[in-house]
Amino acid sequence: MKKILITGVSGYIGSCLFFFLKDKFKILGLDKKKTKILSHKQCNLLDIKKLNLLLKKEKPDLVVHLAAQSLVDETINKNRYYLNNILATKNLVLSMKKNNIKNIIFSSTAALYKFNNKILNEKSAISPKSTYAKTKFECEKIIKKSNLNCVILRFFNVCSSLKIKKRIIGELHNPETHLIPTIVYKNICKKKIYIYGDNYNTKDGTCVRDYVHIKDICNAIKKSINYLLNNYNKFEIINISSSSKKTNFEILNTIKQITKIDNIYQVVKRRSGDVDYLTCSNTKAKLKLNWSPIYSNINKIIKDEIEWVYYLLKNKKFRKFKNYL
Ligand SMILES: NC(=O)c1ccc[n+]([C@@H]2O[C@H](COP(=O)([O-])OP(=O)(O)OC[C@H]3O[C@@H](n4cnc5c(N)ncnc54)[C@H](O)[C@@H]3O)[C@@H](O)[C@H]2O)c1
Repeated sequence: MKKILITGVSGYIGSCLFFFLKDKFKILGLDKKKTKILSHKQCNLLDIKKLNLLLKKEKPDLVVHLAAQSLVDETINKNRYYLNNILATKNLVLSMKKNNIKNIIFSSTAALYKFNNKILNEKSAISPKSTYAKTKFECEKIIKKSNLNCVILRFFNVCSSLKIKKRIIGELHNPETHLIPTIVYKNICKKKIYIYGDNYNTKDGTCVRDYVHIKDICNAIKKSINYLLNNYNKFEIINISSSSKKTNFEILNTIKQITKIDNIYQVVKRRSGDVDYLTCSNTKAKLKLNWSPIYSNINKIIKDEIEWVYYLLKNKKFRKFKNYL
């Protein structure tokens, strides 16, 4: 059985991926944070000595690099992005080379494209705006320069929860800033939802975004693992997006239809930088990885997120928000 190291295994995507892959590969998790549900090595990627020892001892066949300062928030000290994104990736790549580990999958983001309301593809212009996106783009360059056998996956909005056997795993960021987890939770808890602008050039005036179910994300990573284990000297950048391109109002309506709870919402002014459409084609993922979104229809996404929210509330875990008004 091949051995896979997942960095950032205590996070949202990492913990889902751990359970998704654990019967197919020998999984070793790494995170600077402790977690109750996973057996993993606590290691900060900034601690290069500890990282070197770990890779030397464990010799994974492939690394899925998810660890990052992933919250998109310009009030966060820029140094945290520099350390946990750029420096952490440099250390990981150095340590992989030193220990002759050749395969890496890197989780990048759609946020580094120049947003122009057109359907994006991998050749679209790059123009990262946020510190988060700028540092993720730097990581891509570091990995490209390393000549490792590599797939870079640029994710669009990852959402919803994953059920594996009797376990349910989902998103619990603090603060929560993503749209779907925020408005599903607020609908169920009867809290006020803010919609940033209803005068965009879309069918109902609210922004259109591309949403991908976490199970499709895990499957894209699994297919990338198989691709790298069967190929050499590759460097592929692949967008992972879905066919669920929805407006904010369409999402609100879907939630209301399923929960039968009215949304309490207020339309407030646009956030700077938001564009009408942020969507992409997934032709390359189909071609290279034989991947297509299977679970990313909006009803499935919302239903699985609702189930996760009820699980959180039952276990007295509460989402926290920062309102960007
Ligand atoms: N969630 C999304 O919608 C989305 C979209 C695009 C890209 N991504 C990317 O996917 C990856 C995973 O996203 P997520 O939502 O699971 O993020 P997350 O914030 O939930 O998890 C990231 C994990 O990385 C760990 N980490 C951070 N710095 C570290 C370090 N120096 N050493 C060791 N561990 C460290 C954190 O402790 C955390 O557990 C990130 O790289 C993110 O940029 C996510």
